[in-house]
Amino acid sequence: MNHKEGSLNIMSNSYSIAVIPGDGTGPEVVREGIKVLESASRRFGFKMDFSHYDLGGDRYLKTGETLTDSIIEELRRHDAIYLGAIGHPDVKPGILERGILLRLRFELDQYINLRPIKLYPGVECPLKDKGPEHIDFVVVRENTEGLYVGGGAFLRRGTPNEVAIQESVNTRLGAERCIRFALQYCRKRNKSRKLTLCGKTNVLTYAWDLWQRTFEEVSKEYPDIQTDYAHVDAITMWFVKNPEWFDVIVTDNMFGDIITDLGAMIQGGMGIAAGGNINPEGVSMFEPIGGSAPKYTGKNVINPLAAICAGGMMLEHLGEDAAAAAVEKAVMEVTGKHINSLAAGRMGYSTSEVGDLVADYVSRL
Ligand code: IPM
Ligand code: MN
Repeated sequence: MNHKEGSLNIMSNSYSIAVIPGDGTGPEVVREGIKVLESASRRFGFKMDFSHYDLGGDRYLKTGETLTDSIIEELRRHDAIYLGAIGHPDVKPGILERGILLRLRFELDQYINLRPIKLYPGVECPLKDKGPEHIDFVVVRENTEGLYVGGGAFLRRGTPNEVAIQESVNTRLGAERCIRFALQYCRKRNKSRKLTLCGKTNVLTYAWDLWQRTFEEVSKEYPDIQTDYAHVDAITMWFVKNPEWFDVIVTDNMFGDIITDLGAMIQGGMGIAAGGNINPEGVSMFEPIGGSAPKYTGKNVINPLAAICAGGMMLEHLGEDAAAAAVEKAVMEVTGKHINSLAAGRMGYSTSEVGDLVADYVSRL
């Protein structure tokens, strides 16, 4: 919710943020993110109240609970959610991901997964001859449908004749609202005003027929946006060979999951990659995408920049554009002038020192 509307501009904007530090290094990186958000709120004159929720592996191991209905209701009453990481070495893979992360995305109808892929100055890029001028695009991933709905069945499970069916659900409404968001985002971003649909029309002839028809129809309403299409397999080649071709990409849930991890690698890795799970009409959630990194937990060596960037995305979403721009600028100062590497333990600074550096730049910008 943007509290600007209707205010007399006498009182500053105030936001209530639900914080889910989560597992592993989540709490460490979230602490630095909040440090930077607090610096930004002092510098740019708004208020943030943080309420912490102890969701994650430890709570699950103690209580058997991943997420409760009443917590979901409480989360709905916040302006945004700030998430650290979900994933615990003692919990079977899938339980926390489905029980917390995916459940929140679905129940809060966060139908967009927004993933900026931007190479910041000073960051080592694995692509030969590519620099910050070549890598700056955004993936808009559908976040509530496709293969992620969990529909399917087993037949004759455990027998030699076993059948497993995993269904991809694609709705007109789901594709349309995602494509519309991408078109509007592309317009607002105003870079090359080019939107690429990433699909697989040559093989997945039902799902991608629906997506393509919707894309063609809806994009007619946005004549200022140039449209393009690429198959998902080809797009993985172009990410490596010609990342400068892209401005905004829109795709489904599964393809988006895959191509955004490749995107994270070409922007310097999990130390910097952030994402937003967005419901433009509801409560959105911002997270570093790197996971809980158990082996670095509690060592003060994990890179907090991804969490800090997620905080910056949250500020932009809340309408605090100047503060969001300052956070990004500060991160660029730190990657460009300070840290040696984005990798955990090789930054030349500790987790909290990196947070201090960014917070300090923000206060002076
Ligand atoms: C992501 C993650 C999740 C996904 C996992 C943890 C369920 O990989 O946010 O991309 O597949 O969406
Ligand atoms: Mn993923």
